[in-house]
Amino acid sequence: MFLSLTVTSLLSLVSICIAQLPLPVPPYLPPNASFGTIQSPSGRPNSQWTNLLGGLLYFYEAQRSGQLPSETRVSWRNSSCLDDGKDVGLDLSGGYYDAGDYIKATFPLSFTLMSICWGATDFGQGYDLANQTAYLDSMLRWGLDWLIKAHPNDNTLYVLVGNPTDDDDYWGGDLNIPTPRTSFRVDAAHPGTDVVAGTAAAFAACSNLYRNKGFKNTPSGPAGLSNTSYADTLLAHAKSLYSFAVSATGGQRLYQESVPAVGRSYGSSDYGDELAIAALFLSWATDSQDLFNQAASYWTQYHLDDEEGVFNWDSKSAGIPILFTQVLQSTTSVSGNIADWHSKAEDYLDKIVQRRSSGMMTKGGLLYYHGDSDEASLNPAMNAAMLLTRYAPYASSPDKRNSYLKFAQSQVDYALGKNPMSAPYIIGVNPNSPSNPHSAMASGGSNIGAIDTDPVKTTYVLYGAVIGGPDVHDNYFDIRSDWPETEIALDYNAPFLTLAAYNVMQATADPFYTDLQEGAYAKVKPTGQPCDAAIQTGCSRQRLSHGARIAISVVLTVVILTIVGLIGYCVFWPKRKKVAY
Ligand SMILES: *[C@@H]1O[C@H](CO)[C@@H](O)[C@H](O)[C@H]1NC(C)=O
Ligand SMILES: *[C@@H]1O[C@H](CO)[C@@H](O)[C@H](O)[C@H]1NC(C)=O
Ligand SMILES: *[C@@H]1O[C@H](CO)[C@@H](O)[C@H](O)[C@H]1NC(C)=O
Ligand SMILES: *[C@@H]1O[C@H](CO)[C@@H](O)[C@H](O)[C@H]1NC(C)=O
Repeated sequence: MFLSLTVTSLLSLVSICIAQLPLPVPPYLPPNASFGTIQSPSGRPNSQWTNLLGGLLYFYEAQRSGQLPSETRVSWRNSSCLDDGKDVGLDLSGGYYDAGDYIKATFPLSFTLMSICWGATDFGQGYDLANQTAYLDSMLRWGLDWLIKAHPNDNTLYVLVGNPTDDDDYWGGDLNIPTPRTSFRVDAAHPGTDVVAGTAAAFAACSNLYRNKGFKNTPSGPAGLSNTSYADTLLAHAKSLYSFAVSATGGQRLYQESVPAVGRSYGSSDYGDELAIAALFLSWATDSQDLFNQAASYWTQYHLDDEEGVFNWDSKSAGIPILFTQVLQSTTSVSGNIADWHSKAEDYLDKIVQRRSSGMMTKGGLLYYHGDSDEASLNPAMNAAMLLTRYAPYASSPDKRNSYLKFAQSQVDYALGKNPMSAPYIIGVNPNSPSNPHSAMASGGSNIGAIDTDPVKTTYVLYGAVIGGPDVHDNYFDIRSDWPETEIALDYNAPFLTLAAYNVMQATADPFYTDLQEGAYAKVKPTGQPCDAAIQTGCSRQRLSHGARIAISVVLTVVILTIVGLIGYCVFWPKRKKVAY
């Protein structure tokens, strides 16, 4: 009896230990910021890029919720929120905190995992060359294993755990996170087509990665990551969620209609894109022509062609023709109109590189979409750079390929310090990196009334975290309360991982920041006010005298009155005439 118990517990111990790839001993730790000023010796892989990839993954370890394993690398983090899910009789502990606060949000998490798995399918060798594959595995499993818990049966998905007013009420460390925390779900009668299909897409994309199912131009994912039984588990969840999304008894609807609490931060604008991308990743996972056709008909049914804007957690349309192209080029099991998907993909990407997209370029050279970029300017640009880089090998001509890679490089360079602020927008990679991220846990403060000043110096360095980014005038204000510029988030790091993995494989030059010595940002940092979604006082550039402002408002009033008069004439007059007929 005693013996068999021991054997059983030993076995379960062993299976816990081998459940994921063994982590390096000693562990990989990101170097301090001064390392980012040192030019690397030539040759591949470039050690600045391998460290950047390592740091970008390390960020996710700092965002972990739940019981932290003993080998955790982030010494200042504590286990937290172990009771998540108790309100609904489940264990929903684990997973990741979404951003600078302590909610766990399924919609952006799923997007993040889908993005990273897709990128590792494209450029998995980069993780191998950087010796980061085991950390990729542990990063993905920490998220996917939580999503598995959040999907306890076919027609239930937990979409938010936390206190939805955290944002307003709590600023502090991980030991005093307010309880009770509420678990919100969608189910058959209260569906959420977007979040359910988006989670199906994440499971399917990651199942392909764990099955080592590569694309034609990038036939192999990271060596050693492949695990058929895990791939099967992920695929089973993907299939179940997809049919929940398609055939919930409550019909199809936006998830905030079922769970209003998610509307505060992650309401969704539509669900046609999630249905299409889920069907497509599933078709690729199962070689199903039927699912492929479903994906193509969602594209038409939901007019996804019309969506010319950003690629992000809410809007996935821009990536879909690229994935269609990759799938059609890589398999003989499904057929479709590859020329058509090719040209749709290139149409979108050409508009970006030829400056004809709905985004504009800032003076300093950042691709900027009014609206989306006001809340985190780097994210749309980095996602565009990621799509361009992924698609480049499939481009219809060498010129196109080069123009895509060149534009992508310009955006990556910008983010890594080739910008008017001389600041690389990733924490801890260079002395000019931001040092005041909007992150409650890293700040070390607990006074919500004084988050900028208490403490003055941020307590913990959140290595590898990509921040929101500068404002539309390329100005970066390193102040914690200015969340559009300084907040960190799971989905901000995602495209950067793929871009860094690509650069580990390809780059012979250092990331731009090794050119930046200590003090570069201090010399040019702005003195005025920001112009973004939180603070608009910096939006009018010139500081005008009182007299000039009065003169301008008089002129403006006259102009506006004239325009109103003209519009009244043009719109109202013909109508009256019509009535008279
Ligand atoms: C594959 O993944 C499963 C599920 O996590 C795990 O139990 C198993 O140990 C893994 N196999 C290998 C060879 O790593
Ligand atoms: C940073 O790391 C280098 C080694 O890479 C070390 O020599 C230096 O003392 C460290 N600086 C600080 C401030 O920790
Ligand atoms: C990866 O590990 C191998 C074997 O230990 C080592 O030779 C190589 O230098 C490492 N590469 C990086 C980028 O750390
Ligand atoms: C983790 O706990 C220690 C005390 O053991 C505390 O000093 C530290 O600030 C905590 N970390 C966070 C992120 O709150």
